[in-house]
Amino acid sequence: MPPTAHDLTLPDDALAATLEALAADIARSAGRLVVDERPDAVEVATTKSSATDVVTVMDQRSQDHLIARLREARPDDAVLGEESGGASGTSGITWVIDPIDGTVNYLYGIPAYAVSVAAVVGDPKTHGAWRPFVGAVFNPVTDELYLARAGGGSRVVVAGGVERQLSPTACDELGQALVGTGFGYAAERRDRQGRLVLDLLPQIRDIRRIGSAALDLCAVGAGQLDAYYETGLNPWDLAAGWLIATEADAVVGGLDGPGEALTWACAPGLDPIFGSLVVEGTARHLRD
Ligand code: IPD
Ligand code: CA
Repeated sequence: MPPTAHDLTLPDDALAATLEALAADIARSAGRLVVDERPDAVEVATTKSSATDVVTVMDQRSQDHLIARLREARPDDAVLGEESGGASGTSGITWVIDPIDGTVNYLYGIPAYAVSVAAVVGDPKTHGAWRPFVGAVFNPVTDELYLARAGGGSRVVVAGGVERQLSPTACDELGQALVGTGFGYAAERRDRQGRLVLDLLPQIRDIRRIGSAALDLCAVGAGQLDAYYETGLNPWDLAAGWLIATEADAVVGGLDGPGEALTWACAPGLDPIFGSLVVEGTARHLRD
């Protein structure tokens, strides 16, 4: 049996602090690359096949940039990214990276996309067998950098280098909760996701679909959403945001932990009611 996330020993804080600084640095430089070289939105939107191609090219370029920086600084670590390429390693640390999370926003020029970089222990390809200990999520348009390391709290660094500790909202009533969610790309999954939203809507304040899972998780940590849930996420969508939300004292869960089947996060006052609701709803719509 592979070790579960709780059996895993985390690197000491000195190493985590060094890797947090590295994650911050490379997330920023990849973020600048994707913004500086973003093709003109109108041209992109009018030619669908080239639109897809152009975005793919920038996703790949951002990932190649992140991998090159990581290979230089940490040649023994593994890398798992959303795009093709990656690297194996011997150190026991894997970098889990999303070179542009919120690709559709990027395509349309909506300023809610981010570079997500996490350092994890365990096997990020096996559900429940890994956990992040460093996370950086950088929105290059708003110049907001969310950062966390295990046991060290989480913060956002805004333009001018001003830092603010993150904390979730004080919401403790489901009926008052502003809830983020997202939808996958496959029609069948969307059908189930739509039915779950339909169940939830009458019970909560409102729904937001921001378009970047990494930013959604940071938003729960930062008190800009009371809760968030989504099915179908990949490790690179959630690794950094999971840690950032947890270190802000939000509660993060899933089905036996955050992952593809379900990821949810909420302000502490909504625990356990919010998690139970989305766990139960997800199971019900899988059976339907
Ligand atoms: C997507 C975004 C979106 C979420 C999707 C993800 P991508 O990632 O995080 O918010 O709803 O499930 O796939 O494709 O933009 O990297
Ligand atoms: Ca993503």
